[in-house]
Amino acid sequence: MEIPFSRWHAAIRLRRSRRRYDSIPLDPSQLGQLQEVCTRFRPYPEARAEIIPESPDRVLRGVAGSYGKVKGSPSLIAFIGDINERYVNEKIGYTGEGVILEATAMGLGTCWVGGSMFFRRGRAESIVGTSKNERVFAVTPVGYAVKDFSAEERVQTAFGMFHRRKPLSEMVYGLAKKEWPDWIKAALEAARLAPSAINRQPWQFYVEPDNITISVDSPLLEWGISKRLDCGIAMLHIEVAALDCGVKGRWELLKAPHVARFTV
Ligand SMILES: Cc1cc2nc3c(=O)[nH]c(=O)nc-3n(C[C@H](O)[C@H](O)[C@H](O)COP(=O)(O)O)c2cc1C
Repeated sequence: MEIPFSRWHAAIRLRRSRRRYDSIPLDPSQLGQLQEVCTRFRPYPEARAEIIPESPDRVLRGVAGSYGKVKGSPSLIAFIGDINERYVNEKIGYTGEGVILEATAMGLGTCWVGGSMFFRRGRAESIVGTSKNERVFAVTPVGYAVKDFSAEERVQTAFGMFHRRKPLSEMVYGLAKKEWPDWIKAALEAARLAPSAINRQPWQFYVEPDNITISVDSPLLEWGISKRLDCGIAMLHIEVAALDCGVKGRWELLKAPHVARFTV
């Protein structure tokens, strides 16, 4: 499937993690549209997304404090990958974020939920029917988020702290800012808005005139969620913004501590 870059670029600016939903089932036509994106947006054979069109209560769980507690969502999407694939986390992040941006463009709420502390992986896998080599790496609720952030949801995001982003100056190296072409400006701004587990923003971007290299700030596995998955999400944001500037590029996946290079 071709990336609907204008639609997804607009969604990048609109998306926020939502954890409170009206318990209304998804409209069947919206469910069908999402299903189609899950089926057609398969840039990598080792990663896929599947809708679980039933109450997610059996799959989601909250943890200490309120981080991770999702209420009311009628459905879930599971992000599934092949555990034998070296770059599976990057591929899950890239693929899953495409589905998340499409859901956002459709006016639906989502929230990446990763790590077995936050969801019951075994249950998700038995509902989806994964094969021997597959694992559910993350899920997202999907549904109609309550219109306004409730007091409870505001507390969950530490009154917006979990949505705040580091300035680009803390994460970008290489070519001086004044020499960045428009597509690099747009791509880095879009990458900065990418969601990451506990908002850790674990990426660094090395800029050259015709490429951006993403690296991870440390190899630690925090909260049982690979930082390379977060970087996979940032990869999609970079590509969507570049395409929206009329610039095509291609990804090369790299060994740690680097993650991937986008060259135009
Ligand atoms: C891989 C991944 C895992 C996440 N896991 C959880 C989670 O288990 N519970 C939760 O409430 N939020 C989770 N989040 C959402 C982040 O907390 C959120 O993206 C981040 O705080 C930035 O906020 P924003 O998405 O509103 O921009 C996760 C995000 C990512 C990318």
